Amino acid sequence: MRVQSHYTSRVHASSGRRGMDLPGRRRKIFPGTGPSGGMRRDVVVLVGAGLSTASGIPDYRSAEGLWTLFDPEEFHIERFLADPDGFWRRRVDLIQRSGILDAEPNEGHRILACAARDGPVAAIVTQNVDGLHHKAETPIGRIIEVHGDSARSRCIACGRMEDTRAVVARYGGGAPRCLRPRCGGLLRPNVVLFGEPVTRLGEAWDALRGATTLVTVGTSLQVWPVAGLVQEALSAGIDVVIVNDAPTPFDGRATRVLRTDVVEGLGRLFPDAARGAAVHAS
Ligand SMILES: NC(=O)c1ccc[n+]([C@@H]2O[C@H](COP(=O)([O-])OP(=O)(O)OC[C@H]3O[C@@H](n4cnc5c(N)ncnc54)[C@H](O)[C@@H]3O)[C@@H](O)[C@H]2O)c1
Ligand SMILES: [Zn+2]
Repeated sequence: MRVQSHYTSRVHASSGRRGMDLPGRRRKIFPGTGPSGGMRRDVVVLVGAGLSTASGIPDYRSAEGLWTLFDPEEFHIERFLADPDGFWRRRVDLIQRSGILDAEPNEGHRILACAARDGPVAAIVTQNVDGLHHKAETPIGRIIEVHGDSARSRCIACGRMEDTRAVVARYGGGAPRCLRPRCGGLLRPNVVLFGEPVTRLGEAWDALRGATTLVTVGTSLQVWPVAGLVQEALSAGIDVVIVNDAPTPFDGRATRVLRTDVVEGLGRLFPDAARGAAVHAS
């Protein structure tokens, strides 16, 4: 397997066929109960920016995506270190244009929250930094935020966290500084920047080890090393189910591809959770 532990926006070569809805190749994907009759928790879900577009946060790579407005290199660790003032100018712009701090969870987040609380989902590995799984009341132990969270900013000198909303509110044009007395260190977003190691990836691998199915939701699977989870699942014979409205490099090797809206796809895969989410919302 490709060894790549640093977050990169580089697009990797695709493989196999594209653009088709594949029927289930093996057993039924979600058999429901385990040998003892209890609920099996053997599904890991890998989430991307497409889950949050219905919450009003643009993704990166769609026609309206954020990369039409920003260059990924602007959010590289090297850029932050070389020019923190310029980095923060663009970062504040990104935060404001994406509406990420004010967004609310949508039906898709609620379905996954129910599936993680009462259904077969053992872990939600999310590339998103919008905190919407938390706002949807997903059990905290089942969320693995591999790219961090943008709601908080962190002092690189003392590690003190500050609410990003407050940081943006007092933003005056230069890189914001730590408020701890006698520190004054540089603040950075509490997210994994391009070029940095993905810190919680080990937990994602561990979750995958106990899984029979990996469901990917609203992700182009072009961002590494997280896309390597799919590669690994395929190598291990784990069923891969892809829910996305556009092709991904792994479609040709997936057990099933649902080329549809994330909420519709999740409703088909987790009907009980979808009913639970509807009851919860009403
Ligand atoms: N909400 C967020 O926190 C947010 C937003 C933008 C980017 N990001 C970051 O950027 C990286 C981008 O990678 P990615 O793969 O997550 O995003 P991406 O932009 O590369 O891919 C998103 C995919 O979702 C699809 N999509 C969009 N809306 C959909 C919908 N309603 N139904 C079905 N499919 C839909 C798009 O066609 C696209 O293929 C992530 O690592 C993440 O950290 C996060
Ligand atoms: Zn500090």
